[in-house]
Amino acid sequence: MKGLILSGGAGTRLRPLTHTRAKQLVPIANKPVLFYGIEDMAAAGITEIAIVVGDTHQEIRDAVGDGSRFGVKVTYIRQEAPLGLAHCVLISRDFLGDDCFVMYLGDNMLEQGLAEFIEQFEQQHEERSDQHLDVSSESDPGLWQAQILLTPVDNPSSFGVAELGPDGGVVNLVEKPADPPSNLALVGVYIFDSTIHEAVRAIEPSARGELEITDAIDWLIQSGHRVSHQMLEGWWIDTGKKDPLLECNRLVLDTVIRRVDGAVDDSSKVEGRVVVSEGAKIVNSTVRGPAVIGADTCIENTFIGPYTSIGGECEITDAELDHSVVLDGCRIEGVSRITDSLIGQHVQVTHSPERRRVVRLMLADHSHLELG
Ligand code: DAU
Repeated sequence: MKGLILSGGAGTRLRPLTHTRAKQLVPIANKPVLFYGIEDMAAAGITEIAIVVGDTHQEIRDAVGDGSRFGVKVTYIRQEAPLGLAHCVLISRDFLGDDCFVMYLGDNMLEQGLAEFIEQFEQQHEERSDQHLDVSSESDPGLWQAQILLTPVDNPSSFGVAELGPDGGVVNLVEKPADPPSNLALVGVYIFDSTIHEAVRAIEPSARGELEITDAIDWLIQSGHRVSHQMLEGWWIDTGKKDPLLECNRLVLDTVIRRVDGAVDDSSKVEGRVVVSEGAKIVNSTVRGPAVIGADTCIENTFIGPYTSIGGECEITDAELDHSVVLDGCRIEGVSRITDSLIGQHVQVTHSPERRRVVRLMLADHSHLELG
């Protein structure tokens, strides 16, 4: 079993953060979203992984490297334009060969591990092979060609949607339908055998001009191949938007284990599940977990409230923050209450020394600002 992680595409929904930055590298509890996917594959025993990359390829290569830190071997496949998830499979043909593979969308995060999902598919394949069946034969109706993961959602029109037949099997799949046949969304993790290569060659681009993996899987079903499904256990988040990203940060912070490697002075309090990374300093401040404070960050005369991730090399002074994600290298000074916020790298938020209530801004395109 090989792994294919999709990290190309354009992150328009998380602008302006992703004008310059790959959305798969946005941190959750100070770790890039993409790393969770790689670790999950490694934990399931997958060691050969290809990452499909686009314009932000250099940044992703710099962050992930050759994969050795995760115990895997990473190959990069360059996609010249975001032509769709099925296009990613098309251009990965040489890497994948005829092997079965897990495809993982680099901006998705799942609570459920991959191991059991993969095991179910592999067991079925092995059992069939043990029975000396021709595993590549279309005439074998028992063999699974694909396995998908489904979960009920409130807004199915934003996802690929599955329709189940009377026997509970998937009979139809449709991408972002205006009139959804059910509330069962396709989660961004799939397992395929080599039949998918035929499917991605057979389909046409969708109305949005992309080769949709949903259409390719639907092609498998309509051509008489077997697509099995599992219902997702636990939470799942497509982190490409601010609020889901903050929610994901909250869910992951709930699982962190307290560790204080940095320095906390006597007049500070660090309460609950908090990670204070090496080189960080907490001076005359309170950090109430769950929270993570990145390496070499200095927090002074400040209250950091629950569900906050502060990146590395930040300076936060005379401030109050909660339920927020702050990326590396930020300076926040004299700001009484920041909440529900996502703050990009090297941003400065400071208090004006003037008595008049003024606000001076330098914001990137597509920024969001709510002033109280
Ligand atoms: O999150 C689950 C949903 O993901 C599924 O329910 C949909 O059926 C599926 O089409 C997909 O929808 P999105 O519109 O959310 O996909 P998005 O464009 O955000 O791309 C998902 C990941 O794949 C992201 O990490 C970028 C990468 N990608 C995307 C495209 C279109 C590529 O690497 N190349 C591409 O051409």
